[in-house]
Amino acid sequence: MSETGPPAPVVVHRVGPERAADVVTVVHAAFGARPVLDPPSTATDETVESVAATLAEHRGLLAVSGSVPVGAMLLEPAGHLLRMRRVSVDPHAQGSGVAGALVGAAERVAEEEGYDGTVLAARAELPATVDFWGHLGYDELQREGTWLTLAKALPVHVEAATADDTRQLGKRLASVLRAGDLLILSGDLGAGKTTFTQGLGEGLGVRGAITSPTFVISRVHPSLADGPALVHVDAYRLGGIEELDDLDLDTSLDEAVTVVEWGEGVAEGLAETRLEVSITRTVGGDPTGEDDVRHVRFIPVGARWIGAGLHQALA
Ligand SMILES: Nc1ncnc2c1ncn2[C@@H]1O[C@H](COP(=O)(O)OP(=O)(O)O)[C@@H](O)[C@H]1O
Ligand SMILES: [Mg+2]
Repeated sequence: MSETGPPAPVVVHRVGPERAADVVTVVHAAFGARPVLDPPSTATDETVESVAATLAEHRGLLAVSGSVPVGAMLLEPAGHLLRMRRVSVDPHAQGSGVAGALVGAAERVAEEEGYDGTVLAARAELPATVDFWGHLGYDELQREGTWLTLAKALPVHVEAATADDTRQLGKRLASVLRAGDLLILSGDLGAGKTTFTQGLGEGLGVRGAITSPTFVISRVHPSLADGPALVHVDAYRLGGIEELDDLDLDTSLDEAVTVVEWGEGVAEGLAETRLEVSITRTVGGDPTGEDDVRHVRFIPVGARWIGAGLHQALA
């Protein structure tokens, strides 16, 4: 094998104590190369025994390039979140996507095992590291001295076989919503955005039928109890989000749950905190069918959704 050839692709494995020696080697290499902080990291104190003990209980991830270990992390449950610890990339392998591959693998593990999201501790003295997590969608949950707790709520994917299932999904989501929440619904015309919103309205207990308005772009449905109102905006025909500002909404959005029905793929770059709900038809499904499977994907954006119970309510 040529030493100057391109590096072998990075593969991430879920590992137990049998790989403790490899994991500890990568952790020592990564943390040994970092500037010494105050208080110093305890990662370099890890031994094969201490890592093996953690791996035996919760397992971890090992990234290899060819047969060479280049990255590692330990995984630990933290309530509804999966905690990533000792996130390590060998300094020689930095900049080759190892960290991103590890985090992607950890998020998949968390999703498969039904966690709400992932969490980690980072040090404010390492701004490049904090930026890295920010780019991956991690938000600051808490700050104690220079210790930051960063977390990300994970998407939830559900199939709705019938129009009523889609309505029930909206109703179940309503149980975790509160005033000030913004939902962006995307999907083609007829995907089921209004159907979903009807369930939301039912769950929130608001007044008035939720329909697809022909001329009216937005409608306020006041709560029948003392909960938040539902502001329903059909922006399908709106030119852009700026036009939303021109709408004369007499209810403050802070006091309502706001739902915007939107076309495909325009939700990006809206409010910093939002829940994106994307509804798609099954390829090859019967477009005229009364009850036809929809894929509903909930993508939480912002710290608001961490620990909000989305997964429990929807999955
Ligand atoms: N699984 C499903 N989920 C939602 N709607 C469905 C489903 N199967 C069939 N439908 C039908 O598709 C249509 C969806 O319409 P609507 O909710 O107004 O879509 P949109 O608001 O996205 O344009 C309704 O006629 C509904 O009965
Ligand atoms: Mg609609």
